[in-house]
Parts: sequence; C-alpha cells; structure tokens
Amino acid sequence: MKVDASVRVPGDKSITHRALLLAGLTRGTSYIGGALTSLDAQSSARVLRQLGADLSPLRKGATVTARGRGRFSRPAQTLFCGNSGTTTRLLLGLLSAHRFSTTLTGDSSLRRRPMRRVTGPLAQMGARFSEQPHDGLPLTIRGGSLRPLRYEMPVSSAQIKSAILLAGMAGEVEVSVHEPNGRSRDHTERLLQAFGYGVTQNDGWIRFTPRGKLRPFEIQIPGDPSSAAFLVGAAVLAESGELRITGIGVNPTRTGFLGVLERMGARVDMESRSEHFGEPIADLIVRPAALRATEVTAGEIPGLIDEIPLLAVLASRAEGATTFRQVGELRVKESDRLGLIAENLRAIGAEAEVAGDDLVVQGGESKPVGKVRTAGDHRLAMAFAVLGTLPGARIKIDDMACAAVSFPGFPETLRDIAGARR
Ligand code: S3P
Repeated sequence: MKVDASVRVPGDKSITHRALLLAGLTRGTSYIGGALTSLDAQSSARVLRQLGADLSPLRKGATVTARGRGRFSRPAQTLFCGNSGTTTRLLLGLLSAHRFSTTLTGDSSLRRRPMRRVTGPLAQMGARFSEQPHDGLPLTIRGGSLRPLRYEMPVSSAQIKSAILLAGMAGEVEVSVHEPNGRSRDHTERLLQAFGYGVTQNDGWIRFTPRGKLRPFEIQIPGDPSSAAFLVGAAVLAESGELRITGIGVNPTRTGFLGVLERMGARVDMESRSEHFGEPIADLIVRPAALRATEVTAGEIPGLIDEIPLLAVLASRAEGATTFRQVGELRVKESDRLGLIAENLRAIGAEAEVAGDDLVVQGGESKPVGKVRTAGDHRLAMAFAVLGTLPGARIKIDDMACAAVSFPGFPETLRDIAGARR
C-alpha cells in the first residue's frame, strides 16, 4: 500500500545546547523556539539556572525565554550534567573565563567519559582544574583571564573545538583550532559568526577573532538530523510508501549519513529549503530501497559520528560487507558504542566484528531476533528499534526509555510510521 506520512522530529540537540548556553550568558532576554526538551537539553537548562540565568521551563511546543546577566555567577552547588557530554564540555569552555570555582559531575556514563581532551587545551589558555585521579568527572574548574591559543586537536571533535572557541569568546582572546581528520559539526562557528565574531577556516584550521559581541537573540531551532536519521532508516527498510520529515537542519557537517545512504542505494531528496541563523533547513523525502554495502572512510566519520549505530544496523540488511574505517571514537560515547554495536548485531543474528578501530558489518536477510543491551545509550536503543520494524523481527531492547535523552516520543513516532506503511 502506498502511504504519505509526514512527520516532524524534535529540535536539534547540538544547536539547542549552544543556543541555551549563549542565551544564558548574554545580558538581556532571548527567545528560543523549537528547542529540544529532552533530558540532555534539560541538563543544560538546569546548570545554567544554577549559574544565575533565568530560563523558562523547557516544554514541548513552548518558546524558551532566557534571561542572562552578561556573566555567570558562582553556583552554590555542584553542577549535575546528567548524561550530556555537550553540556559539560562546552560549559567548561565558558567557565574558563569566569573567576570562580565550579564542580561538574554527571551520571555514571558521563563520569567515565574523557575530559582531559578539553581540560588540556583550556589549561593552556589559563583555566585551572582539580587533579583528576581518572580521566573523567567529577572535576573542578577555576577560570580567570585567558591567553590566546593555537591548538591541534588529537581528533576532529565538535565538543573540543567548541569548548576552545567559547573560551576564546568569553575570555576575549584569539584562538585557532586544527581538525586532523575531517570537519566536525560547525554550529558554534555559525552562531558566533551571527554575532559578528571573526571565524575563518583554512586548511583544517579554524581561527576565531574576538571582535563580535553577544546580544539577546531570537532563534528557531530546526529539527535534529540525527533524530531524523532513525526515521529515515525505518522508511528505507519499508516495503512501499514515502516519508516526509519536515524542517530538518541540513548543515553539511551533519548530513554525511545521507551521502553514505545514497552510495548504499537509498536516495533522500531535500525540498522546501530555507536558512535561519546561518543554518540550512529542508524537508527530507525518503523512499524504501534495496541496500548494498559500502565503505565509510575515516574522513567521513566526523560528519556522521552520531549516525553510525543507525548506518550499522542498515548495513546488516545490505548486500555485501560494509566497513566503517577508524571509528575508535565510538568507544568514548555515551557507551562503548563500537563494542556494543557489534555485540548487539551478533545478538540478533547478524555478522559484525571490530577489527582494530574499524567496524565491519556483513549484510544478510535473516529475520533479526534476539536481545539488545543498550547500556542506557539512546542511539543504540533507537537504531535497534528501527531494525525491529522489519517484518518477522523480534528484538527485545533492554532500555527503550533512554531514547528520551535526545528524542522524546521516539517509540510513538516510530510506531506511527511503521503503522502507516503497512
Ligand atoms: C556534539 C559533538 C559530537 C557528537 C555529540 C554532539 C556537539 O561529539 O557525538 O553527540 O554538539 O558538539 P564529539 O565532539 O565528542 O565527537
């Protein structure tokens, strides 16, 4: 049966964090429409309130009103960043320029995630950190006046890059950051440019000049392409029909997965293009397709880092073996995503292996049946739920509630789509 489903997805997580952080810092009242209201976004809002910002509740459909004071004030208590690496790392950048001590912590997953990759360069700029017995949280930062920095990142990471750029902004110093292996998402650069700051790119170097000024703003957050990706995957695996996902951010540093899908035989069209705050937006139109294997190169990884779980489950349905090159970064995400993608694919009867830092997934046609262990990782839960929409699939996911970290209402949205295409 031919169906025409049209859906929206929640606001972009990366842009929501950045908009909340900037609005919470800026003196005056800003308005954030379409903000993500997920657990991660709530973490940013919560810690900003502790730092003296006045933020209205994050509720679906409501515009967030944010009143900042131009500076953060010393928080009375430890900042609990929940599951959110972006909140923690970007905030460390801003706090580097604040002359008081702040302690940050998070849930058991976040406490294990590496922070030295951010505290190292920020310390070079002049921020001071508590001794970390292990590379993670909790940690205490004391900011101050900052020095300019020229820094070559060990990996292309938007969180490291953004922490340094935001430190440059808050501390009013010039910074240059080098991305070694492909471009990571550039939302921070685009936002800073919108406030008149100098941001140039040349030969992998991003150079920031503190000539702009933050001011209150009104922004409308586009739909999150990383959330849309799961629905794209479900539509590709369907037997017939067409899915339209409206108002998605299609910044090229986020849409690498669409290029890979095209190589695999699934073309996703873009319509109704527009632009807002320097970010391109479009509707995605997806149709079912027969998939073939591909090789995802190391240089492509930063542009699709969050879509690898989804691409891996799709690769398990493609003809041939798909290789994801140099995906070691997945070991330090919300879980050891690299190990768990392979383990869970095998648990549902597919073939997958980790070879060094590469992931190899063999495609096949057997019905996916088995139990999936998510370790509380939202993207693993959603990726395997997509496979669960295949006819005859019987997949039991140990924790579907964790999808609310980035995509509140995901199970219902997926059910609507899967139902609509039958
Ligand atoms: C993000 C950057 C990426 C990504 C994360 C969000 C951001 O992390 O995986 O979900 O908003 O800057 P890394 O910078 O660690 O690659």
